[in-house]
Amino acid sequence: KEIKLWGGRFQESVTDAVERFTESISFDKDLYKHDIRGSRAHASMLAKQGLISVGDEDSILTGLDAIERRIQNGEFVWRADREDVHMNIEAALTDLIGEPAKKLHTARSRNDQVATDFRLWCRDAIDSIVERIKDLQIAMVDLAIKNAGTIVPGYTHLQRAQPVLLQHLLLAFVEQLDRDSGRLLDCRSRLNFCPLGACALAGTGLPIDRFMTSNALGFSSPLRNSIDAVSDRDFAMEFLSANSITAIHLSRLGEEWVLWASEEFGFIAPNDSVSTGSSIMPQKKNPDPMELVRGKSARVVGDLVTLLTLCKGLPLAYNRDLQEDKEPVFDSVRTVLGMLEVSAEFARNISFNQDRIKKALPLGHLDATTLADYLVHKGVPFRTSHDIVGKCVTMCLGKNCQLKDLSLNDLRMLSPIFGDDVYEFLGVENAVSKFSSYGSTGSECVAGQLQYWIQKLGTG
Ligand code: ARG
Repeated sequence: KEIKLWGGRFQESVTDAVERFTESISFDKDLYKHDIRGSRAHASMLAKQGLISVGDEDSILTGLDAIERRIQNGEFVWRADREDVHMNIEAALTDLIGEPAKKLHTARSRNDQVATDFRLWCRDAIDSIVERIKDLQIAMVDLAIKNAGTIVPGYTHLQRAQPVLLQHLLLAFVEQLDRDSGRLLDCRSRLNFCPLGACALAGTGLPIDRFMTSNALGFSSPLRNSIDAVSDRDFAMEFLSANSITAIHLSRLGEEWVLWASEEFGFIAPNDSVSTGSSIMPQKKNPDPMELVRGKSARVVGDLVTLLTLCKGLPLAYNRDLQEDKEPVFDSVRTVLGMLEVSAEFARNISFNQDRIKKALPLGHLDATTLADYLVHKGVPFRTSHDIVGKCVTMCLGKNCQLKDLSLNDLRMLSPIFGDDVYEFLGVENAVSKFSSYGSTGSECVAGQLQYWIQKLGTG
């Protein structure tokens, strides 16, 4: 058995069970790029500060390049007996270049090393997610552009409420997604501080330059407090919180589309390329991708809860518990990236069923509120007009007709204020055209919103 990097004081080797239980290489090898990047910056800083020679720096950098290439080519052998990604790479470097490698861990602990790697990893992950969010926003905007003028029933309580432009509805999702990237970018700026040089917890007496490594790694500055630097994972909690909100948004989008693809709604027709079938019912065509978007949001929330619970009650500073921080974060990122990708794919592969939508519009008295507003225009207090229109709806139910089918005589039986011009307010097209408040579903407002997003996303 190889002697551990930390093996000096030990007289016995760890049991196989302990080795198996404590290793993290099986998952933290995902940090290799960031670990190597951190080591490069650290080695150059050590050389600049005179803590290692330039010759040693050169061999370390060349050695790290070789190791990175090997990993990328799948030639690197990850060893569980070398515990984690940090010691696998350091030990491999020692195998490769000998003595100089033994100087790399000067003024460094795995505690500040892993915190640095993890922040770098999360920073990259945030950038990838923000990019995917934008892809989905673009897919939604393109869908809006393709479906100009389409009116759909808007719902509250899943009951028909008021007519809205389909574009308006699609852009509501684009707005949510925009806040999702905003949250991630906020998190990114708070996360972007460098733990390296905090060492085990107390810093070091060796003359290191933390500002140099922080700069080289693209951080805003070194973290002020070495104890804080190695012990907190709030950046990851914040990241997974933002991911969870994104996932919940996507889950709601999933639900919307699953409903709309049903025979009962029939508003959208997904292409075969984004549908799956049944192993028993030959006729089935299911919107599984969006169901799974809805379903996978559960694990993203679960990942957040795992991380929060992990950190609850930990004493300062580093504790080995923190090794468990990686898998939930990796899972959350992998899952959210997949959810975003598939949602965009789905958006690009559905068409709106105009016939079904048109047939749905006359049902549910979507123009009732507009009719109440008509009476307000004529000076009727809103509460009174609400009551009058309520009675109009009851009359429609009796006659099995729509509001616009009521004769002027019928209407006047309920209020003498109704005039000929009332028919300009009835029917979904008229009703939609009456909306004009900022942010409303009126066609000018929606056109303005669409223009805003086309410009902001550089699409269209
Ligand atoms: N694999 C460890 C982790 O992920 C690295 C830090 C270990 N530090 C220690 N003192 N055992 O947290």
